[in-house]
Amino acid sequence: MAKKSIIDFRQMIKSGEKISFLTAYDYLTAKYEERAGIDMILVGDSLGNVELGYDSTIPVTMDEMISHASAVRRGAPDTFIIGDMPFMSYQISDETAIINAGRFIKEAGCDAIKLEGAGKQICDRVRAIAGVGIMVMGHIGLTPQFTAKLGGLKAQGKTAEAARKLVEEAKELEEAGCFAILIEGVPAIVGKAIKENTSIPILSIGGGSYADGQLLIYADMLGYYDDFTPKFVKRYCNIGEIVQKAFSDYIREVKSGEFPDDSIHSYKIKPEEAEKIETELCKKK
Ligand code: KIV
Repeated sequence: MAKKSIIDFRQMIKSGEKISFLTAYDYLTAKYEERAGIDMILVGDSLGNVELGYDSTIPVTMDEMISHASAVRRGAPDTFIIGDMPFMSYQISDETAIINAGRFIKEAGCDAIKLEGAGKQICDRVRAIAGVGIMVMGHIGLTPQFTAKLGGLKAQGKTAEAARKLVEEAKELEEAGCFAILIEGVPAIVGKAIKENTSIPILSIGGGSYADGQLLIYADMLGYYDDFTPKFVKRYCNIGEIVQKAFSDYIREVKSGEFPDDSIHSYKIKPEEAEKIETELCKKK
């Protein structure tokens, strides 16, 4: 299947087909997502929580993002991949923002980047990055890099006034040159208002069903990451339980001697060679 582009996404939206979108941080996950036919992959800075064991996304570095985004590209060569700009990779200046956005494209082979936030300074960054020809996805609502300012990982846009502000932010990001906007952690009706006041693709993670596409963190929907599960997550399986059971079974079998079974899990040699090794080299008869 050929890699989808912004033209395909616009066409899908026009024909009423929703965009499927998942995070991935490694080669194997990306490979299975591509095989399943995912439309877009986000290499999110949720890497920090999900794969690196930090308690937030704040410590994630550009080098970590590039390493994981490159692995995702190797696993999903034919999928539209978005690299997520980590904390402090775009806040300082237009120049550092362009350099870091460019690394996702040049070094990791991403198709676009995403950055969090709104307001004049962020819109300036969007303009600068989009101005050099890199596609930028905006991200508003519950923006984890701004957790301290938001007072925690809380749903946003719960009053008409807050919703009006989010709609304004979305319009400004569109005007600044975003090719799409991700909305996170807002009531469905706010997602509807944002969708109806913009004309670029609106993707949602916990922003209701009116958006043009849906994103989930792959480890949440697989029941793999269980440190914290937001309300908007739907679990499609409980892979954590399966994995833990396999590890326990393995440990038990190693300790009991059930694994390995040399008739199955060992290399075959000619019986006469085995005989010689046994008599000449092995001490216990
Ligand atoms: O880092 C990430 O995965 C994200 C999503 C939570 C939207 O930004």
